[in-house]
Amino acid sequence: MGELEGRTVVITGAARGLGAALATSLAEAGCNLVLCARNLAALEAVADGIASATGRRPACIAMDLAESESVRQAVDAITRAHEHIDLLINNGAMWLEARDEPLPVETVLGVINSAVTGTFLFSQGLLPLLRRSANPDIVTIGSVSGLANAMLDGVSVPFYAAKRGQTAIAEGLRQMLSGTPVRSIILHPPDLDDIQPGEPAWAEAPGRAKSARATNRDVVEAVLFAVTRPRNVSLSIVLDADHGGVFPG
Ligand SMILES: NC(=O)c1ccc[n+]([C@@H]2O[C@H](COP(=O)([O-])OP(=O)(O)OC[C@H]3O[C@@H](n4cnc5c(N)ncnc54)[C@H](OP(=O)(O)O)[C@@H]3O)[C@@H](O)[C@H]2O)c1
Repeated sequence: MGELEGRTVVITGAARGLGAALATSLAEAGCNLVLCARNLAALEAVADGIASATGRRPACIAMDLAESESVRQAVDAITRAHEHIDLLINNGAMWLEARDEPLPVETVLGVINSAVTGTFLFSQGLLPLLRRSANPDIVTIGSVSGLANAMLDGVSVPFYAAKRGQTAIAEGLRQMLSGTPVRSIILHPPDLDDIQPGEPAWAEAPGRAKSARATNRDVVEAVLFAVTRPRNVSLSIVLDADHGGVFPG
């Protein structure tokens, strides 16, 4: 039996991309999943794939991280359905690249509120359930854009600020939760190729040349590594790459 077998895991932004890859990989590791995103139909499609591969169907919850009432309702639904959760993965965020025109206020609010306000409120709301776990972890998916002195490199200023804020939330939680069993772990991925378990590119990813972009698989493996360290270790991991990394070539 694997170390993560039977753990209850909540993943935000699980409807596609890295969140879907995390969901499939953690399901294969024997975890029971709660998947969140705005698009319920896309979540259900991810859950269907997991159910046919593992026989266990993840729960799916529609939640808009940028809307505090939606976050509150999701926390309530998870609290009603689960006595505890073992792992919260704060993966959901709204991407926004730089553009020449001024950004609409709704877009700025969506980017900042989903990554910062939503990540904080969801983590705070689920803390009572995490505190009932024997192995409670919060993993936040940041970005190399969220590192101090990161290059803007084509990302919009609100996204850059949101990722810096998300980094501060993960680090603040780590300090706040010092002396409790709950760990706060953060990963900072570079630009990723969006590959999924089961695709040929997933099997081929470990053979990539150093000049190639990182992939979802690299982040999934870093998460699995981080959450299986001894409990006295809370990792912060920067995944750098020549292509799309801290100082992109
Ligand atoms: N891909 C990269 O190159 C890269 C690099 C560095 C860091 N990251 C980080 O890794 C994480 C995943 O990235 P990704 O590329 O896989 O993202 P993605 O393909 O854009 O998917 C984002 C996920 O988050 C959900 N989401 C977006 N806005 C949301 C909101 N307001 N409320 C709730 N859920 C929301 C989306 O579903 P709905 O639209 O249905 O809500 C989707 O499931 C993000 O935190 C991202 O910043 C990605």
